[in-house]
Amino acid sequence: MNHNLTWHNMDITKSLREEQMGQKACTIWMSGLSGAGKSTIANALEKRLYAMGKKTILLDGDNVRMGLNSNLGFSDKDRIENIRRIAEVAKLMNDAGLIVITAFISPYRQDRRNAKRIIGEDFREVYVSTSIEECERRDVKGLYKAAREGKIDSFTGISSPYEIPENPDVIIDTEKMGVEECVDQILIQLHPIFEKSE
Ligand code: ADX
Repeated sequence: MNHNLTWHNMDITKSLREEQMGQKACTIWMSGLSGAGKSTIANALEKRLYAMGKKTILLDGDNVRMGLNSNLGFSDKDRIENIRRIAEVAKLMNDAGLIVITAFISPYRQDRRNAKRIIGEDFREVYVSTSIEECERRDVKGLYKAAREGKIDSFTGISSPYEIPENPDVIIDTEKMGVEECVDQILIQLHPIFEKSE
């Protein structure tokens, strides 16, 4: 970081924006394997929050990698930078008063810990725990097959690790519950943060 920088405190603060929007900003960080159901659940969760009148934004792995992070691949270094940027963007959006939902594999504990450090007390971790066997069986995008055939390098769960969250706020089992039930679980278990309005 350049040391010749000075942080400016602005008059319109996060809490003023939260007050104006009638909600408490937070980041719901969803982690899990490719094909675990993160994007589907994140989308359904955002629809539910929208219907509740909440102001939200959804940051999704594939989508963000087609824009902001289009210069990043799947090496360790690039995944670290992918998650760092998302955490910084989520923090900015929290500062704007928004409820942020992120759906990234975010396979490394250290990176999720770093995201939590960047975002702060408004960070909540949701682990979408769908097993590798089930993700591979679903193989919605055909990527597991391609990875098994050696056509994709460093594929999470096959040739690159996924470190299971140690202490997530919510665990979602998509093998036992439907999408709306998963959303119910998240809303119930995280309800204090959604109820709060500054
Ligand atoms: S992360 O590991 O850096 O958090 P991210 O969630 O942004 O990953 O992107 C994952 C998505 O990229 C997957 O859902 C899949 O569609 C695609 N993808 C392409 N190559 C890979 C790979 N080698 N490993 C995992 N996902 C990949």
